[in-house]
Amino acid sequence: MNPSKLAVVILAAGKGVRMASRKPKVLHEVAGKAMLHHVLDAVAPLGPERVVVVVGPGMETVAESARPHRCVVQEPQLGTGHAVTMAREALDGYVEPDGDGQVLVLFGDTPLVTTETLERMAEAVGAAEEPALIALGFRSPEPANYGRMVLDPDDGRLLGIVEAADASAEELAIELCNGGAMLGRGPELFALLDRIGNDNAKGEYYLTDIYALAAQEGVSARVIETEEDEILGVNSRAELAVAEAVMQRRLRDRALAGGATMLDPMTVWFSHDTRLGRDVTVEPGVFFGPGVSVGEGAVIRAFSHLEGAEVAPGASVGPYARLRPGAVLGESARVGNFVEVKNAVLGAGAKANHLTYLGDSEVGAGANIGAGTITCNYDGFGKHRTAIGAGAFIGSNTALVAPVTIGEGAIVGAGSTITKDVSADALAVARGPQKGIESGAARLRARTRKNGSGSKDR
Ligand code: UD1
Ligand code: CA
Repeated sequence: MNPSKLAVVILAAGKGVRMASRKPKVLHEVAGKAMLHHVLDAVAPLGPERVVVVVGPGMETVAESARPHRCVVQEPQLGTGHAVTMAREALDGYVEPDGDGQVLVLFGDTPLVTTETLERMAEAVGAAEEPALIALGFRSPEPANYGRMVLDPDDGRLLGIVEAADASAEELAIELCNGGAMLGRGPELFALLDRIGNDNAKGEYYLTDIYALAAQEGVSARVIETEEDEILGVNSRAELAVAEAVMQRRLRDRALAGGATMLDPMTVWFSHDTRLGRDVTVEPGVFFGPGVSVGEGAVIRAFSHLEGAEVAPGASVGPYARLRPGAVLGESARVGNFVEVKNAVLGAGAKANHLTYLGDSEVGAGANIGAGTITCNYDGFGKHRTAIGAGAFIGSNTALVAPVTIGEGAIVGAGSTITKDVSADALAVARGPQKGIESGAARLRARTRKNGSGSKDR
């Protein structure tokens, strides 16, 4: 690995008009994480000494999101080359003629670029022949609007990049395209940027123009190739959906390689940070929002929705369960169909198998929560906690009006509305007493018929 220091410049000033959004483009998410953060996380393992994000005016939300990294504002937006020069002041020690270190330029709307590829670029600049500039390329049979890379036929050096709008028919036939990322030694890069003009189809200062200038001056430039998937640039919602699909494929592959079983992987949606242990089974139609971890051997059954939840080994969730942020299921706990759990901890072996809401609660180990139990955690003003002791049994259709505590081993009769604490091993029943009236049904029927209001042929 090259020992020299590294600064990263991420271009994100573009308005992203085609996203048709109030939100800046780079804050749109892929697998639950902003595109900008995919890029930031891809560069982090390279240990950059500095990261500078180039934003447009009024993009405070981007600056906020990029913290602690520094943002510089580009106004007006005169092209990718111009955007990089906005970072000049933030790159002191890199760009002066006697500066050292490397500058990596990435686009904020290219969320699929991998650390592995960036490392290959960094290694290439450090290689024996030491090209001063490395550009990331890919091959495409339909290169559309990408810049075309012109190579020296003899030694493969990069002679220049021609933007599609400025390319001749012959150049348009080139299949090697510019992925956008570039890595260069600071002083050479900025000396070249000072010399680019804007006499082209778009009237912009193209970053890509540095390569032809470099070739003229004998500054060597080379291309590192990668897959088209990795450099996909997101300019519209449709492209965002394509990036999402690529990312989901990667995440599914990662889960499978890690030892999870998925009966139908295509129907399972992951977040960038979903963690599945070995021998986890995920049935079809499961959605993992951000912040979910599932322990070894647990089963997530069909059509469950999980976010911000921790599922211990051997636990079982669903089908049709919803785990919201702060849901923590202990070992071998069970949460069944139409059960919602929010900010609640279920101890080992605890069960809530049907039609239940557990919010702001603690449920002790081995407790059994009957069908239709509701923790009434919200009184219209604030949230309150419910504590249920280990081994307690809550009968079906119980309302637990928080704040309330049910002691260990206590039993609550079905249909109770519990408003007072229940001590350990106590039995609590809180419902209207049942009346039984002998022959009452028969008398009621007879009376109804006589009054003529019985059902005729309606
Ligand atoms: C650019 C490349 C093209 C390459 C393609 C790969 C140039 C001139 N062209 O074209 O060779 O094939 O990416 O996706 O570099 N930006 C700014 N300030 C500006 C202009 C752009 O910050 O003044 C940012 C944008 O927000 C975006 C990135 O730079 O994140 C790329 O700009 P964009 O206009 O999308 O470039 P392309 O036309 O796609
Ligand atoms: Ca683009």
